[in-house]
Amino acid sequence: MLRIPFVSLAPAEDAAATRAAIDRVIARGWFVLGPEVDGFETEFAAAMGASCAVGVGSGTDAIALILRALGIGPGDEVITTPLSAAYTALAVMTTGARPVFADIDPTRLTIDPQQIASAIGPRTRAILPVHLYGQAAEMASIEGLAFRHNLAVVEDCCQAHLATAGGRPVGTIGVAGAFSFYPTKNLGALGDGGAVVTNDRALAERIRRLRNGGQTDRCHHVEVGINSRLDEMQAAILRARLPLLRDRTRRRRVLAARYRAALSGAPVDVPPELDAGHVYHLFVVRVPSVVPGARLPPSREASADGRSLGGGGQPYQTSQKTDRDARSELQAHLATDGVETLIHYPIPIPRQPAFAATDPAECPVASHVCDEILSLPLHPGMTDDDVDHVAAAISSACARA
Ligand SMILES: Cc1ncc(COP(=O)(O)O)c(C=O)c1O
Repeated sequence: MLRIPFVSLAPAEDAAATRAAIDRVIARGWFVLGPEVDGFETEFAAAMGASCAVGVGSGTDAIALILRALGIGPGDEVITTPLSAAYTALAVMTTGARPVFADIDPTRLTIDPQQIASAIGPRTRAILPVHLYGQAAEMASIEGLAFRHNLAVVEDCCQAHLATAGGRPVGTIGVAGAFSFYPTKNLGALGDGGAVVTNDRALAERIRRLRNGGQTDRCHHVEVGINSRLDEMQAAILRARLPLLRDRTRRRRVLAARYRAALSGAPVDVPPELDAGHVYHLFVVRVPSVVPGARLPPSREASADGRSLGGGGQPYQTSQKTDRDARSELQAHLATDGVETLIHYPIPIPRQPAFAATDPAECPVASHVCDEILSLPLHPGMTDDDVDHVAAAISSACARA
């Protein structure tokens, strides 16, 4: 049976370059903050269209270090989305600030600017939009709000390497952008890693100091920093892979277009592509919640403003929980057809027990969406036939429902 894994992490066409990078670092015998990190920072900044990049230990640390470098901490609030990896909000909490959740737009699935406007209060210092699944948040409206209320915009670009918003590179629209190089990301290391990009040189310098214990020179700690340094091995591996990123991103877009065509008659909703700068970190469909025993409804097209597309037709209500969950059934059918799927994310962040005391925001749109979303396999190593196999498996699973 054909097996379609969700991702493929083993080095493939980049295997020789990755091995050479590792050998180069071993031969040099220097492993933390050195020429590979310096070289990667220059190359990554150029590739992302920013003037500075600072390599750090993870995407979570990249977000936290930006906030700390902006002076955000205890007593402050940062408005962010309920639909993301929980690390987005955890990063805010590590600074001592409080994450405040503004619900998502039902079509774009990123933070809804109208909800941000309602969440702004006297303690708000920053807006932290996430460019989810590879598609930018609605940045023009967010910038307008930030300008009117004198707030910083910090972009979570962990799923959006090379993405653009209306043609502008993500990470350069707000004051800074945070990237992750976790192995599954569009640019992944062979371990953890992250980077901050910014056009603000003073901010970059402060983050450079904070990532290294707050030192100016060796053993001179002028402020309380943390230990969050991108290591030489990961930096060298990322340098080997960065030149492939543009082609790999193109391939992701081709595969996504093929999914769209192949799923056009399938009874799942395929959210519209709202920006040609979408880099498809994930390909996420929606499986409308249905009553027990019912067939899945036919797919619906988005209206001109995109807002009518909402799984189950009730995008503003928490979906009915049924004893026969259409998404679980589809996932199980796909697994028997060798297709691995995941859910990004099954629980809105404010509904996670770890955040109960922080901001128990209701976020009904995110709650509804979390019940319906399903991530299909998408990685540059997939063939066109793989995509057709997944689409056919979805259609046959739904015909059997
Ligand atoms: C949107 C988003 N933000 C933040 C993170 C955290 O990145 P890292 O795992 O590198 O800390 C991730 C990755 O899991 C992510 O997808």
